[in-house]
Amino acid sequence: MQGIFLVGFMGTGKTTIGTALGERWGLPVYDTDEEIIKKEGISINEIFKRNGEDYFRKLETQILKNVPVKNCIITTGGGVILKKENREYLKSIGKVIMLNASVEEILKRVETDHTRPLLVGDKREKIVNLYKDRFELYIETASIIIETTGKTVNQICEEIEQGL
Ligand code: S3P
Repeated sequence: MQGIFLVGFMGTGKTTIGTALGERWGLPVYDTDEEIIKKEGISINEIFKRNGEDYFRKLETQILKNVPVKNCIITTGGGVILKKENREYLKSIGKVIMLNASVEEILKRVETDHTRPLLVGDKREKIVNLYKDRFELYIETASIIIETTGKTVNQICEEIEQGL
């Protein structure tokens, strides 16, 4: 089976849904952020602080292109679609599922989170602006788009299974 990639904005449930799909299908799940943290031995916040976003994006591309793709689920960081190179790679190598959620839902999910350097400060404003810049890129990359707002993990997994 070709790789299944989950893309989408921060807080749309990629990690939760990826883990649930892995359990349902008995497949390993790789998370690009987790792989970056393992490789660098420090948190994403710390990587951004010490080396900046560009450095993080380079690592993200390296990791993306090196995680196993056959018979795996791969969950990605929300900014993976920023680079054309990554979008092309994702489209060429597997099935890309976009998870979507409303700004209010995303805000609820990330309200108390301090692990995302791009959401420091006014979270609502950051989410609205970043989502505006990125929305089309997710759409361009994904072959399946799943709305997650108001749905259970089970419902979302079933929708993905129907869409594949
Ligand atoms: C980012 C999303 C984060 C993480 C990093 C940057 C982004 O992953 O990769 O903080 O640019 O949207 P999640 O989407 O899992 O929060």
